[in-house]
Amino acid sequence: MARDGAVYVCQSCGAVQSKWAGQCPACGAWNSLAEEVTSRPPGALAPTRGSKTRGLAFEGLESETPEPPRIVTGVEEFDRVCGGGVVPGSAILLGGDPGVGKSTLLLQVVANAAARGASCAYISGEEAVEQIRGRAARMGLAQAPVKLAAETALRDILDGLKKEKFDLVVIDSIQTLWSDVHEAGPGSVTQVRNCAAELVRLAKKRGVAMILVGHVTKDGQIAGPRVVEHMVDAVLAFEGERGYPFRILRGAKNRFGATDEIGVFEMGDAGLSEVRNPSALFLNDGGARAAGAAVFAGIEGSRPVLVEFQALVAPSAYGTPRRAVVGWDSGRLAMVLAVLESRCGLAFGNRDIYLNVAGGLRISEPAADLAAAAALVSSALEEALPQDCVVFGEVSLSGEVRSVGRAESRLKEAAKLGFKQALAPTGAGDALKVTGVSRLADAVRRIG
Ligand code: TYD
Ligand code: MG
Repeated sequence: MARDGAVYVCQSCGAVQSKWAGQCPACGAWNSLAEEVTSRPPGALAPTRGSKTRGLAFEGLESETPEPPRIVTGVEEFDRVCGGGVVPGSAILLGGDPGVGKSTLLLQVVANAAARGASCAYISGEEAVEQIRGRAARMGLAQAPVKLAAETALRDILDGLKKEKFDLVVIDSIQTLWSDVHEAGPGSVTQVRNCAAELVRLAKKRGVAMILVGHVTKDGQIAGPRVVEHMVDAVLAFEGERGYPFRILRGAKNRFGATDEIGVFEMGDAGLSEVRNPSALFLNDGGARAAGAAVFAGIEGSRPVLVEFQALVAPSAYGTPRRAVVGWDSGRLAMVLAVLESRCGLAFGNRDIYLNVAGGLRISEPAADLAAAAALVSSALEEALPQDCVVFGEVSLSGEVRSVGRAESRLKEAAKLGFKQALAPTGAGDALKVTGVSRLADAVRRIG
């Protein structure tokens, strides 16, 4: 076929340009445009004069065939994040930093699913079969009837997957695959996009659930990101802070379930173990609560999770005070500080402030405002909060403490873990002794 259309694809953001340029007009990356040949210019349809088209065949909303049941893998934390198991024929992208444990998680998922009777394949482009076997043996999964292959050529993978009927296939990773139809190298946006498109097509056509692994680049994007994200039905992120054994699986997009669900795992010598009660894990156990610590009663997805906010407010040695946050939004911290200053008469202007969410969890709920404020005030005043107290509530710019959703489940979870009282919005519930506050200044007075 003639080379009748060349386009330039940015290898960093995936944007398509008709002309080459030194800098990508879409994302600003330098030297990232690579030529890609299409058989026809985009948007040009071949004329169909003379031949009849089929037109559209419209259908009703209600289906006559019952939905096929989901594949329940038996790794419960994973199943829950997927929305109650994997939907047959769906495509899932699992992203995460190199070394976070994606291969470990998925080996566990396919081994468990296979042990429950699903027909599973694990195709690795990164490790040799012997390496994967070794890992499976260490994790005690060697007996699971998983079909294993080490392959990077897309054509061979597609052929292999067409020969057998699989329920669940893992491709580890999408960045290692290459298709001989395209000249670009493995890992380039062109290859990633085309290999993913072929695999997703096969998944839909043959009803195979396909999990694609994607490595995340330094700036937090899955290389060839948007192009793969919009092709798949679900995007999951596997996260973990360096130095902590905890790993969190988060849904970023899910056509078949909620996206605010998290799964919690702990990495050990024999792979990942599921953490059924994350609260116990994220709390600093034993010892008296120090000044600057506040236990937040949060909700992650469908579950209540208790986690400690730790703040340190110290006189600044430099002209510009430092503000450092781990596990929470720095914009939110600035807001809470501003409200504490202007509505409660506390001055933080010349102090360094460090805020940390213990255990490596990332909190994004507005309900954490009051817990962060309590930790900051407790540190500033050097007054520890009561050992058996949890805190939650949203803080508004006017200094009000607003009520938040699912207050009763937060209190119940805290009661289950031995907490006796709560600093919370007025009327939060009665599962614990609640000190109701309607203004942030009231809360500050309670602590000081
Ligand atoms: P891996 O699944 O290979 O990460 P990814 O596929 O995301 O790159 O996991 C790599 C890390 O996990 C590695 O640093 C070793 C650690 N690990 C354990 O601590 N215990 C185990 O049982 C396994 C299999 C790995
Ligand atoms: Mg890996």
